[in-house]
Amino acid sequence: MIWGAVIVAAGRGTRFGRPKQLVELAGRPMIAWSVLTFASMPEISEIAIVTEPEFIERIEAIAHAAVRHATVRVVRGGDERQASVRAGIEALGDGVAAILVHDGARPLVQAVDVRAGMRPVQPGIASLLATPVVDTVKVVADGKVTRTLDRAELWAAQTPQFATARDLRRAHADAVRHGTPAATDDAALLERAGLDVLVVPGAPENFKVTLPTDLVRAEALLRERAPHALT
Ligand code: CTP
Ligand code: MG
Repeated sequence: MIWGAVIVAAGRGTRFGRPKQLVELAGRPMIAWSVLTFASMPEISEIAIVTEPEFIERIEAIAHAAVRHATVRVVRGGDERQASVRAGIEALGDGVAAILVHDGARPLVQAVDVRAGMRPVQPGIASLLATPVVDTVKVVADGKVTRTLDRAELWAAQTPQFATARDLRRAHADAVRHGTPAATDDAALLERAGLDVLVVPGAPENFKVTLPTDLVRAEALLRERAPHALT
């Protein structure tokens, strides 16, 4: 199957304190790490990177230096993540049979996990990487706990998330047509579109850089990686 990758790297980094897509991590801008991982996978033939207008040129330079065999396009994002994903999907050609969507803010994604996520995808079946939740999760209203969820049933969604191009396009088009509130991941749209969405156990290291303190952990893990990752 020929894959396209959408890397979403727009957004303002409100919780981080500033836009985070180009923040330096183990000697490279954060976005470069996931681009390198996807560029190392021959099954990915197109990569669309979505970002803020002010970063397009710099990310084009980073991507063209990193990517050899795949086609790369860098396009402008939207106000919500969901709109940014849509822009990325539209930037991929008709030749891709399946699409993975990844957060540029997850620089630690590894090809072995990406391949595990790709494996179950077929028409009607989507997948996502996820990890079992480690904390006990409370439902809270007005500062008061209304319910405690059963942790054994809870998984924290990561990216990439995977579907056939046709299913992902349809799920996003349905969401626009029904005017449903923006979702924070694509699996939510795929679920609503009636697909079976399978959970593929991912690595806890593939966390999302959200707060400034996440940089320390990401940097340490990237520096531990094989030296080839730094060439
Ligand atoms: N993202 C995007 N377009 C948006 C918002 C987010 O492409 N309008 C991307 C981010 O670049 C990131 C991923 O979606 O890779 C997850 O978003 P998040 O961590 O929430 O990033 P920000 O929205 O920038 O951060 P915050 O919510 O703290 O403002
Ligand atoms: Mg956000």
